[in-house]
Amino acid sequence: NSEKLSSARFTEATDAFVEEFTASVLFDKRMAEQDIQGSIAHATMLCSIDILTTDECTAIIDGLTQIAAEIANGEFVWSIKQEDVHMNIEARLTDLIGIAGKKLHTGRSRNDQVATDIRLYLRSEIQQIGMQLRRLQAAIVNLAEQHVDTIMPGFTHLQVAQPITFGHHLMAWFEMLSRDHERLQDCLKRVNVMPLGAAALAGTSYPIDRHLTSELLGFSHPSANSLDSVSDRDFAIEFTAVASLIMMHLSRFSEELILWSSAQFDFIDMPDAFCTGSSIMPQKKNPDVPELVRGKSGRVTGHLIALLMLMKSQPLAYNKDNQEDKEPIFDTVDTLINCLRAYADMIPHIKAKKDMMYQSAKQGFATATDLADYLVRKGLPFRDAHEIVGLAVRLGIASKRDLSDLTIVEFQRFSPLISDDVYDILTLEGSVAARKHIGGTAPETVRKAIEHAKKILKI
Ligand code: ARG
Repeated sequence: NSEKLSSARFTEATDAFVEEFTASVLFDKRMAEQDIQGSIAHATMLCSIDILTTDECTAIIDGLTQIAAEIANGEFVWSIKQEDVHMNIEARLTDLIGIAGKKLHTGRSRNDQVATDIRLYLRSEIQQIGMQLRRLQAAIVNLAEQHVDTIMPGFTHLQVAQPITFGHHLMAWFEMLSRDHERLQDCLKRVNVMPLGAAALAGTSYPIDRHLTSELLGFSHPSANSLDSVSDRDFAIEFTAVASLIMMHLSRFSEELILWSSAQFDFIDMPDAFCTGSSIMPQKKNPDVPELVRGKSGRVTGHLIALLMLMKSQPLAYNKDNQEDKEPIFDTVDTLINCLRAYADMIPHIKAKKDMMYQSAKQGFATATDLADYLVRKGLPFRDAHEIVGLAVRLGIASKRDLSDLTIVEFQRFSPLISDDVYDILTLEGSVAARKHIGGTAPETVRKAIEHAKKILKI
């Protein structure tokens, strides 16, 4: 069975089903570009230490360049007989250039090769994800800018708590995504380390120049320990953890958009282009995009758990288990990029229903805390003020009126400290304007937060 990878050692052909079962080419061919990039750098390094002649190196690079073109235009024939992306490309290279192709794998193993490929792949995807994240942040900031003084109810326990501005609420989303962006960049530091040279696990007896390979591939430095290099997937777990956090944030965002677009809240109008109807109920307009994103957040967290479970019992160094890391990684990347993209496209088209938001903020005694603060300013201890306002709210509930609708006579029954100026602080505008310290909801503060955000985003 001369086709078998490590043929000479075997006397029996691989079972046909096992061949399919163990092959990864159908999914890892996605890293072909990175595999070729890694091989070119490896060959260049081998040439620099005279393991390959210049002619051999040139032949290898030309062959690999041709293979890259064949893959790009769909001519390349992938075969599960060659198991994975690495063997497929190497076999084709030998077809094309003969003996020099067989020398490419000198001082290298698929173990350090695959670790390199995933790192190169993730490095470029992280850049794409970072860009989509920034696009979404820009969309949020632009929408926030239109709603610096749009008043809405703020919630705790999903009960009306205090009035806030819609701009301030949106900027909360901006902050979460800012931390996500930071985490992504931090994770990149640990992704961008070069495993090549670790070979199978112990390193190689050739006098390789790992600094050169690392430089050629744009890594920050070669990895420190050969065993760790081929068996470490922390960087992928970390990436998936960052992705899970981003998806968790998008899921919370989704939940709010879904609630807000319901008839019961009616705070926003979702763009038609991002919703669908029902096959049976003619009146329906469903917020499909946020619902799907909310659903997909579970899928990404699932991949994080899958990778943690994949690694948790593996002895050093490489084990075939690791082949199972690809699909969760790829699906995490695809899911995340698609969700970010859908959100970045959708957010600019969301219409806030200012009147509905305002009316809703007026219900639920959102300025009760302002009344308590007012009494404190007039000399009452906060706990006593809290008690008095509780009684006023009770009267409001019983008579179905907002605090601002109670008469001065009624107020003075609760406390003689209350005078006519109380009505200024009971308005929603007065309530939000008073919270003008750093991080507060006042329009002037939100405006500053937006200016700062725009500097970070360079928009
Ligand atoms: N397809 C393998 C993977 O994804 C490549 C490394 C194979 N190494 C080995 N010793 N079988 O992990």
